[in-house]
Amino acid sequence: MKILIKNIKQLVQVEENPSLKVIGSNMNKLPVINDAWLAIENDKIVGFGKMEDWEGIYDWTDLTILDATDKLVMPCWCDSHTHIVYAGSREGEFVDRINGLTYDEIFLKGGGILNSAKKLKDTSEETLINSALLRLNEIMLQGTGAVEIKSGYGLSFDSELKMLRVIKKLKTLSPITIKATFLGAHAVPIEYKGRKKDYIKLLIDEIMPVIVEEQLADFCDVFCEQNYFTKEETIEILSAGKKYGMTPKVHAEQLSNTGGTLAGIEVGAISVDHIEFIGDKEIELLHNSITMPTILPGAAFFLGLPFPPARKIIDAGLPIAVASDFNPGSCPSGNINLMISLCCIQYKMTPEEAINAATINSAYAMGLSKTHGSIAIGKQANVFITKEIPNYSFIPYSFGSNLIESVIINGQIISRD
Ligand code: NIG
Ligand code: FE
Repeated sequence: MKILIKNIKQLVQVEENPSLKVIGSNMNKLPVINDAWLAIENDKIVGFGKMEDWEGIYDWTDLTILDATDKLVMPCWCDSHTHIVYAGSREGEFVDRINGLTYDEIFLKGGGILNSAKKLKDTSEETLINSALLRLNEIMLQGTGAVEIKSGYGLSFDSELKMLRVIKKLKTLSPITIKATFLGAHAVPIEYKGRKKDYIKLLIDEIMPVIVEEQLADFCDVFCEQNYFTKEETIEILSAGKKYGMTPKVHAEQLSNTGGTLAGIEVGAISVDHIEFIGDKEIELLHNSITMPTILPGAAFFLGLPFPPARKIIDAGLPIAVASDFNPGSCPSGNINLMISLCCIQYKMTPEEAINAATINSAYAMGLSKTHGSIAIGKQANVFITKEIPNYSFIPYSFGSNLIESVIINGQIISRD
């Protein structure tokens, strides 16, 4: 299949010399071509340029031509942190929080992640696949073209593997690019209360070998937090995961400063996520690491958490990625358009910084920035066409609006039906 998008008002995030991530003051730069064309062949981007240079470059037959007069074309969003596979929903806890309970109090009463684990245990793979496909379709139409999905609502041998097998199946059923993460260390299940060591042993000695055998996960993640897993336990689990070929990631500093970022840096994590309670010491140490600080403004918004110091991190010369954290407990939305609005409105990031965070840097945070996250020759054809809008700043500005008209994922035009 060949697609030519012509008369593009602004082709955004164009890279002549692709980079793996954008850091510090460079995050404020977003290369665009005005009055542009973009050519796609099968699942790849094969050319782009200014309309005035277009004539005669390609003489294709069987070409689908899309006219983007007064519209923008951008690389699809990359969402490096989600929990899209889950059973049921948790609006009861949402109401409990409105009435005064905290996220922590709900968890200590057996709710939160444990509530989702209870629901998932009795849900079939088929039901999980169908509900996840609906969510994947929803986020694709909101412009997301690559997504990481975690396990972590299983919390047992059978249910963790069930989740990971569901994610593996989704890779074959959905056009979106998917990366899988083993998050068995999301919480200690009720059956292991007071026996956390035994649960960690189950994760490492019994579940991890099956994950490798069936090639079920690209990454391993731990929720490093009081009442969940300590810094030392995080290092132990992620180091074991690494031996089994899984790249580390960390849920770090979401509710308190617990050492998740330091653990992540020590084991060479590709990202540390949340970071509301990150301190100066951690920011300093991130400089000599490969670790992408990743903010999840939807979860902070939904739980009413303090803002992470995003400005400070960028001003210190570091990169930042943004992801949705789409999950039933702390962020029941996977809409990256909304996340970038929150970055701009609440965290004082510029539209350029927020868009870099949601494209190339979020691609980096799931090991995909060689193939995703920008418009570059040879990259996956993951792009969206906006409605008629004046410029890219209009996207975070118009929070809550749907400004995306059509989405192309891996060269396929995604239909709304
Ligand atoms: O990223 N913080 C830990 N895990 C999820 C929330 C999980 C849940 O409440 O279901 C998060 O916010
Ligand atoms: Fe999460």
